[in-house]
Amino acid sequence: MREELKRLKDEALAAIEETATAAGLQDLRVRYLGKKGALTGILRGMGTVPADERPALGQLANEARDAIEARLTDRAAALESTELDARLGAEKVDLTLPGTWLPRGSEHPMSQVTEEVKAIFTNMGFQVVDGPEVETDYYNFEALNIPKDHPARDTQDSFFINPEILLRTQTSPVQIRTMEKMTPRLPVRIITIGRVYRRDESDPTHGSVFHQLEGLVVDRGITMGDLKGTLTLMARSLFGEGVRIRLRPSYFPFTEPSAETDVSCPVCDGAGCRVCKGSGWIELGGSGMVHPRVLTAGGYDPEVVSGFAWGFGIERMTMRKYGIEDLRHLYSNDVRFLRQF
Ligand code: DAH
Repeated sequence: MREELKRLKDEALAAIEETATAAGLQDLRVRYLGKKGALTGILRGMGTVPADERPALGQLANEARDAIEARLTDRAAALESTELDARLGAEKVDLTLPGTWLPRGSEHPMSQVTEEVKAIFTNMGFQVVDGPEVETDYYNFEALNIPKDHPARDTQDSFFINPEILLRTQTSPVQIRTMEKMTPRLPVRIITIGRVYRRDESDPTHGSVFHQLEGLVVDRGITMGDLKGTLTLMARSLFGEGVRIRLRPSYFPFTEPSAETDVSCPVCDGAGCRVCKGSGWIELGGSGMVHPRVLTAGGYDPEVVSGFAWGFGIERMTMRKYGIEDLRHLYSNDVRFLRQF
């Protein structure tokens, strides 16, 4: 039995030395020291040993157990530190390696123009406001001096939801909504940018959904000079220092007088080129002095205050700024197109 104990101990110690994993050590612990383990098995045979030899044998067995136990603990500690070394080695970060290029998106040209316009007008003291896209006939037409039988309704083929509710055809209803709830009452200096809807066929310059920039200023003593000055400042910030604004007589029910608003071509400075189709001018949209009926609908006295307003297409402004020839590019979500901006 003495021999057996010694052999068992040597065998266990050698096996422990050869084990390279924590799981392997756990197996050995069970195999040698566990309840059904080898050492326990030997000790069970103690009964057959003469009584006077038992203490010495017992001591030997204890020594063997302690030795195996100690070796297991040492080996576990050693394994742990080599495993840690290996992991630290593998996870080491080499700061001198070149970085990985992550593909990034770019801001859509329409969003860029929108943000630029907002910045230009907030710098001039304007507030940016919002209005609903599902609008009532009253705000979209009636309050803007376009009664039910008015021919101007024909120029804005509308998506009606029922006879009184429609998808707004213009951002001008926001003028009325703003005036109604403006506090303090003066001055009114707002812009709004948002989607509008018309029953138009889609082509290079039209779509059934597009965006407008609407502006409204109301105060005592506002003149058409203020209109021109304000829009000139916007055009110069957006298209370049040298550009000029031209107002051509026009008609809108909600302004009097009304104007088509042109900006001198930023490419040829009015000489005529491909971008402005030879005319030297680029059309931005409508503007004018707010009609007295519209001021009244907004709760203002046209005898006391006056105002100007404008409504430009954001798509058109974006196309002019970047020389884009087809509106549909803006909605195609083609990364090759969008990456250029
Ligand atoms: N609402 C007009 C349209 O969609 C554009 C417009 C013209 C807006 C003149 C205005 C304005 O505020 O004064 O065709």
